[in-house]
Amino acid sequence: MKLILLGPPGAGKGTQAKRIERDYGLVQLSTGDMLRAAVAAGTEVGRQAGEVMAAGRLVPDEIVVSIIGERIVLPDCAKGFILDGFPRTVAQAESLDRLLAEKERRIDRVIEIAVDVAALVERISGRFSCTRCGAAYHDRFNRPQVEGVCDVCGGAEFTRRQDDNADTVAARLKAYREETAPLLPYYAARGVLRSVDGMADIDEVTRQLRSAIDGSGDN
Ligand code: AP5
Ligand code: MG
Ligand code: ZN
Repeated sequence: MKLILLGPPGAGKGTQAKRIERDYGLVQLSTGDMLRAAVAAGTEVGRQAGEVMAAGRLVPDEIVVSIIGERIVLPDCAKGFILDGFPRTVAQAESLDRLLAEKERRIDRVIEIAVDVAALVERISGRFSCTRCGAAYHDRFNRPQVEGVCDVCGGAEFTRRQDDNADTVAARLKAYREETAPLLPYYAARGVLRSVDGMADIDEVTRQLRSAIDGSGDN
């Protein structure tokens, strides 16, 4: 199963990808996480991406396409993967189609997590995640069961993202509208697009996603 989760910043792509990864044994591939790791490690890619990310703009296509191209051929992706935050432009989607076609493979499902843009600023500004395992939390909607302790790994350190501030969020939403939303008709035309209600609570979104995945009839 090769799955794409599509949706604006704060839609819940990362939250849901982690749950699907656990339940279906697929690997979550988040270009945002990979780029943040590159920035933290101070690599050449990180150096090129850091400023662009801090401004809420998109990193150049050739950088993210090459990161993904190297990643999806690794053995842990053989059973399938969940793309979270990639592709984000039509050019990236076309490159992905070419990469998969070389291996006679293709995307099975693209699931849009549909949300009201008005809700996103609150979601993003309340977000934090476990430093050790990356599990996502929210000040209001999704606190750890035990205060200060990660539900998943027991870690006790949490981090907030540098680009989760009001100015950058506005730029990220603009980039979504202008550059990423055109992927909806792109995948609809290929018959692989489904949509779930991202305004529902987190468990309900997971239920809807599972039925969109299970109904695909293709592994
Ligand atoms: P990236 O890391 O992909 O960020 P994003 O797309 O802006 O999305 P987010 O991670 O902010 O949101 P999410 O949908 O994962 O929501 P989450 O589950 O955390 O990209 C960052 C940057 O990297 C980009 O701006 C760009 O510069 C660069 N980049 C990355 N990929 C790129 C690419 N392919 N091309 C070019 N540049 C690229 O949920 C948000 C919060 O809401 C959490 O606190 C969560 O607990 C809560 N929540 C989740 N679901 C619900 C719900 N149903 N109800 C209530 N609360 C909820
Ligand atoms: Mg995310
Ligand atoms: Zn954790």
